[in-house]
This record gives sequence, C-alpha cells and structure tokens, in this order.
Amino acid sequence: MNPIVDPRIEDYCAAHSSQGGELHRRLAEETHRDFRSPQMMVGDLEGAFLAFLARATGAARILEIGTFTGCSALWLASALPPGGELVCVDRDPKAVDVARRYLTEAGLVDRVSFRVGPAREQLAGLEGTFDLVFLDADKGGYVHYLDWALPHLSPRGLVVADNVLWSGRILDPKDDDDHALVAFARRVDDDPTLERVMVPLRDGLLLIRKSSGGLFQPPELSRGLSKTPPRPE
Ligand SMILES: C[S@@+](CC[C@H](N)C(=O)[O-])C[C@H]1O[C@@H](n2cnc3c(N)ncnc32)[C@H](O)[C@@H]1O
Repeated sequence: MNPIVDPRIEDYCAAHSSQGGELHRRLAEETHRDFRSPQMMVGDLEGAFLAFLARATGAARILEIGTFTGCSALWLASALPPGGELVCVDRDPKAVDVARRYLTEAGLVDRVSFRVGPAREQLAGLEGTFDLVFLDADKGGYVHYLDWALPHLSPRGLVVADNVLWSGRILDPKDDDDHALVAFARRVDDDPTLERVMVPLRDGLLLIRKSSGGLFQPPELSRGLSKTPPRPE
C-alpha cells in the first residue's frame, strides 16, 4: 500500500490520537510474523478513528465485513456500550482464530460474534439493524455490501468503507479492484438519499449515512442561498 498522506504527517496524527495498547502491539507483531499481507490491518490511527466514530454516534450494534486478525475489531469492540454487539465476518478461519484469541484476551469476546465464510452468504443470514457497518473485505463486493447495508441501517446508522483511495490507483484505474472502487464511489454519488464524505485517512475512508429527510440537501450556505449567516443563540 503506497501512502496517500506523507508518512511523517500520518505518524504525527497517530502520535496525537488515542493509542493502541500492548495487546494491539502484540497482535500487529503476530500478524506481521504469520500472515502474508499484514498491511491489511487498519493500524492505530484508523482504529482510533473508527472507535471515535462508534462512540460519538453511540453505535450499539456494529457489523464488520473483513475482520482479518482483529485489529479493527479490537478498536470497534472496545467502543461498544454495555450490551452492545459486534458481528465480525471473514472467510479466513486462521485469521479469525487470531482475532478471537485477542478479543478474548481483551475481555471483549462476549460482545462479539464471528461468522466465518464468504460475506455474501453470511450477510444473507443476518437479521436486525446495525448502527455502523464497516466495509473492509473484497473490493469487488463493496457495492453489494452497501446495497445490503442500507436497508439494514438504523436511522442514525453509518456505513464506513475502507481503501476507497486504493493507494491512488482510483485516479487511473486498471485492474478489477481499481474499477470496482471507482464504481462504488459513483454508486454512492448517484444516490440522492445519501450524505457522504471521503477522507484521505490512511488508504481513504468513505463515510456514508442515509439522509433523515429522504433526499439529502446540501447545506444552504454552500449554494449561496443564505446571504446572512444566522446569529449564534
Ligand atoms: C483488509 S483485510 C481486513 C483487515 C481488518 N479490518 C483489520 O483491521 O485487520 C480483508 C479481509 O477480508 C476477508 N475477505 C476478503 N474477501 C472476503 C469475502 N468475499 N468474504 C468474507 N471475507 C472476505 C479476507 O479474508 C481478509 O481477512
């Protein structure tokens, strides 16, 4: 993964954000030692961002599609309120075993359920709504996962999609994953009921929510409709 943001700036941001602990460090070491693509872990800065989002929105039921060895799951599970639930989906049983072990060590495993298998099949068996859906599995599946997630979002729910900048390859798409990510961004753009913001954090995150009033209205000020800004109360 080629960095989007200057690594020194990213390190500075990470240093001034909530930190992962000893468990996160050990998980990273084990993943680097035993797995082929350790760079798939979200890492501390993005993990802290996801946990912040989950806490700030009061997310009590979270779905993660693409758990790998559990880096993002550790952050997300730690942000759940008492009685909350994280559903982790991944097709790699070896990686999920590692995730389960670290979530157990963190004392968080009681609030996590694991579904091992292809995400499309696993989603078909899920019921109820989610407050946060984190997409971090195969890029070719993102449009399908979004289409599944939207009717399963709680009214204040968020979808967060990772790797939407794909090391910058979205600017000159060549292979299937590049094209899939461009098609995913367009799918979101073309839906007038969605509010979205793409941020260049790590490999790019797209934050999506359903507009409460049906169609999403851009802020009045940005369209120049309101000449006088409202006075503060
Ligand atoms: C980028 S990694 C997830 C990283 C994880 N969120 C973390 O922070 O460590 C992607 C994961 O998605 C899983 N995956 C890819 N395609 C999948 C599919 N079709 N169904 C289920 N899991 C899939 C892979 O096994 C891999 O563990």
